[in-house]
Amino acid sequence: MIRQLSLIAASLAAIMVLPGCGSNQKDGAAAASASFDEIVATRRSVRDYKEGTTISEAQVRDLVATAMEAPSWANSQTTRYYVAMDPQKVAAVKELVGAGNARNTAGAPVMIVSTFVKGQSGFGRGSQVNEVGDGWGAYDNGVSNAYFILKAREQGFDTLIMGMRDSDGLRKLFNIPDTEQIMAVISLGYRASDPNRPARKSLDEIVKFY
Ligand SMILES: Cc1cc2nc3c(=O)[nH]c(=O)nc-3n(C[C@H](O)[C@H](O)[C@H](O)COP(=O)(O)O)c2cc1C
Repeated sequence: MIRQLSLIAASLAAIMVLPGCGSNQKDGAAAASASFDEIVATRRSVRDYKEGTTISEAQVRDLVATAMEAPSWANSQTTRYYVAMDPQKVAAVKELVGAGNARNTAGAPVMIVSTFVKGQSGFGRGSQVNEVGDGWGAYDNGVSNAYFILKAREQGFDTLIMGMRDSDGLRKLFNIPDTEQIMAVISLGYRASDPNRPARKSLDEIVKFY
């Protein structure tokens, strides 16, 4: 109970601090004062974006620079980001994420496709090191994406990770080589409303101590 109350308090405090949240919306303003817990508490999958906003290439570069600090198998750094900034390209990506995702990302000014280079993370001398194989590339990609979306929140942006997407269509649209596995599409924009926090399992359902 005390834990829940402190999480709610942290969320409320963060809502006061973070741009793009609650009444303190300021497009593009940095929120360097937000603590890690505040960023985590206010990061949500956003499915309702303010229309008519813009995000610059420099701002996206900052997010990718943070994502590059993520750990990866033997520092293999196989994650790649394809960033649609041009409105026509953005619209084309939205046509490749399914009708529901397209509707939910309608106002997002930037759409990003995340991939990883196959056969490197989890591989040594050309063969997979253990049973996970390219699963390690997917693992590294997810870690990188996590850095990306949390940095985005710190900067006052909002995101939606989408696993529902047409990978063949995206491959053609960005000319992504077959050597790369297409993973998630991530929308980037500013929330138009604050989403609820989907319930989490209890801690003891997911952790065992020995
Ligand atoms: C790998 C992955 C794929 C996802 N795909 C979609 C998707 O296609 N559409 C969508 O609306 N949400 C998608 N989500 C968002 C999840 O539904 C969301 O993270 C989860 O419900 C928890 O909510 P929260 O992110 O607000 O904490 C995806 C999330 C992940 C990590």
